[in-house]
Amino acid sequence: MSTVTKPRAEHPRAEGLAPRLVYNGGMLDLLTHGDFARHRRLRRSEGLRRLVAETRLSAADFVYPLFVTHGQGVRDEIPSMPGQYRISLDQVGREADDLRTLGVPAVLLFGLPAVKDDEGSEAYADGGIVQDAVRAFKQAAPELVVITDVCLCEYTSHGHCGVIADGEVDNDRSIELIARTALSHARAGADVVAPSDMMDGRVAAVRETLDDAGYVATPIMAYSAKYASAFYGPFREAAESTPQFGDRRGYQMDPPNAREALREIADDIDEGADIVMVKPALSYLDVLSQARREFDLPLAAYNVSGEYAMVKAAGAAGWVDEQRVTLEILTSIKRAGADIIITYHAKEAARWLRDAR
Ligand code: PBG
Repeated sequence: MSTVTKPRAEHPRAEGLAPRLVYNGGMLDLLTHGDFARHRRLRRSEGLRRLVAETRLSAADFVYPLFVTHGQGVRDEIPSMPGQYRISLDQVGREADDLRTLGVPAVLLFGLPAVKDDEGSEAYADGGIVQDAVRAFKQAAPELVVITDVCLCEYTSHGHCGVIADGEVDNDRSIELIARTALSHARAGADVVAPSDMMDGRVAAVRETLDDAGYVATPIMAYSAKYASAFYGPFREAAESTPQFGDRRGYQMDPPNAREALREIADDIDEGADIVMVKPALSYLDVLSQARREFDLPLAAYNVSGEYAMVKAAGAAGWVDEQRVTLEILTSIKRAGADIIITYHAKEAARWLRDAR
C-alpha cells in the first residue's frame, strides 16, 4: 500500500521515527519504511542543487557605488577598500564599459567636491562633480541606470548631512538643500535620486521639488532605515565625510531598533518613495526580512564599506575563501528579501557568477 499524500499534521516525520499508523486518504496504513526524510536526495549533484535553489543571485541585482572626483587621470585606490577607486571623469567610459560587459545595470554616484563649505554648496551646483559625472555616464552608456546619492555630508566643511544651527543639524533647513540637490541631479539627467541624509520629511520635500520642476518621472530610492553604523568607516575615509564634531546618532537610526525601521519605511512610502532601503545589510538582515514581509515596494539593501573591507582583509590574509564568502554574503542579502543589492563587490561578483556558468 502506498503511503503518499498524507496530511501534513499526521505525517510520521512530525511524530518521530518509529513505525506507526498513518492516515492515508481514508484508510489507516502501517508505515514500515521511509519514516524519515531524505533531505540529501536533492543535494547530490551541482545540477540538482541548482535546480532547487530558492535564491538566484544575478549581476542584474547589483548596483555599483562609485566615488567621482575632480581632476584628470585620477584613479586613486581607497586604502581601506582594496579594488575601489576614486575616479576622475575621464575614467567614466572605462567604468561604463566594464559594467556593460559584466551586466551590472546601475551605478550609485558619490562626489568629492573641490571645496567644502558650511552649506555644502557644491552638492546642489549645476556644475558640481556629481552633476558632471551624471552627464558623463549618460553620454558614455545611456542604458546604464545612474542613481545619485543625495546628501550634504561630503560637501559640508563640518561633515554633517545637513546644515548646522545652534550646534545641531537643522532638519527643516537641511531638507530644502537636500531637495535642491536632488533637483540638480535630476536636471543633469540622473535616472534615480537617493536621499541618504535621514532628515525627517526629506522624501516629501524631494518629491514636491521634483514634481514642481516637471521631473514627475524621476524615481526616489530612499535610504529609509539607515542606521548610525560603525560599518561606514571606510566610506568616510573614501568620501572624506567624517563629521568634524559629534556624530550622526541624532539623525541616523539607533541599532537596537527594528520596529522603528518599519515606521521609517512606511513614512517614506507615504511621502513618495519608489524604492526603499535598509542599510547596512548584514547586521540588519532581520530588518530587511521584516520589511520584505511588510511592504511590496522594491527593496534595496546596502552592503556597506565596512562589510566589504572585512571580507577583503580576511581574504587577503588567507583566512577565508574570498570568492565563496562574498557570494554567500550576497546570497544571504537576497534571501533575506532584497531585490536590489548595492555592493562594492558588484563587478567581481558579476565576473564570478558569469565564470561559474
Ligand atoms: C552619506 C552616505 C554614507 C554612506 C552612504 N551615503 C555615509 C554616512 O552616512 O556616514 C555609507 C556607505 C558605505 O559605508 O558604504 N550620508
